[in-house]
Amino acid sequence: MVFFDSRPDWQLSASRVTPERIFWQRRRFMKSLIGAGVGLAAASAGACQRSNAGDVDLDTTLGQPLIGVRQNPAFADAGRDLTEQIYASSYNNYYEFGGSKNIWESAQALPADPWQLEVGGLVKNPTTFDLDDLTERFDLEERIYRFRCVEAWAMVVPWIGFPMKAIMNVVEPTSAAKFVRFTSFYDPQVCPGPGLSLSRNLPWPYTEGLTIAEMANDLAFFAVGIYGRTLPKQHGAPIRMVTPWKYGFKGAKSIVKIEFVAEQPATYWNTLAPNEYKFEANVEPEVPHPRWSQATERLIGERTAMFSWEEQPTVIYNGYGDYVAGLYR
Ligand code: MTE
Repeated sequence: MVFFDSRPDWQLSASRVTPERIFWQRRRFMKSLIGAGVGLAAASAGACQRSNAGDVDLDTTLGQPLIGVRQNPAFADAGRDLTEQIYASSYNNYYEFGGSKNIWESAQALPADPWQLEVGGLVKNPTTFDLDDLTERFDLEERIYRFRCVEAWAMVVPWIGFPMKAIMNVVEPTSAAKFVRFTSFYDPQVCPGPGLSLSRNLPWPYTEGLTIAEMANDLAFFAVGIYGRTLPKQHGAPIRMVTPWKYGFKGAKSIVKIEFVAEQPATYWNTLAPNEYKFEANVEPEVPHPRWSQATERLIGERTAMFSWEEQPTVIYNGYGDYVAGLYR
């Protein structure tokens, strides 16, 4: 994103993305590991075996099985093949832990247990949730959602979690609440940042925001798991936002605080580059990023010899217009 280059990430030179050798090493390893099954099946597919490929141990980052989670039939088919977990879980954006896509190892420094998620602001019942609350208090379901990063890469992943409105039902926002601010974990002792001199003066902690109506929408989801297991740290353990009709940067990871507020809150990327990263940030193929087109997207996955990924047209609201178009009329 804005830190590095005027080109989207998939156009960056080889030295700026995961070195191909490492990518393929991981790919070989993970293919043997989870090629047999994804989604809920992953929990029983032995995704925690040791690597035969030397020092590669992505498997140890993949979280604990979440057993008996039902799949929501409305979101059982995203119209595209599921992305293999090797790609989703080793190609991440988490700038607190580094400026490349290859942060899955450094993100293991995140202290995700114990955890407290404080929910307050303009609500009747301020509540603090602990780690057990996040997986036990709400009715967990699996939803296969499309995911579209503003950098024009995309994937399809099976999240496990609960609708955001379940938390609204507990805390009961007052009529004065119009927006919601979400704050990610940040500790400068633990989070090295993206590197380079740009690490200075960044608006940490990472924050994001939604309108109340967006948070109450059926699609808005808190994920506590992915591929049948609790969230790996690189995906934002133990709880992150998932708003599949918006660009991926709206999905703040490792949330520690949710505040119901009266005014539109400042957010991380919008503060850094307001002309490039809008507060609303809905997926819109006709609206180019100032530095690249949004008309098409590349599905992360098996690369060809040319190192390109499968390209698809971008769909308005990432294909979720039936759920959300009414919010923006
Ligand atoms: N949340 C935090 N706290 N820090 C981040 O750097 N990156 C965002 C979003 N949430 C980010 C974040 C961006 S730009 C994207 S595309 C998604 O996380 C990537 O999610 P994934 O790594 O799980 O695919």
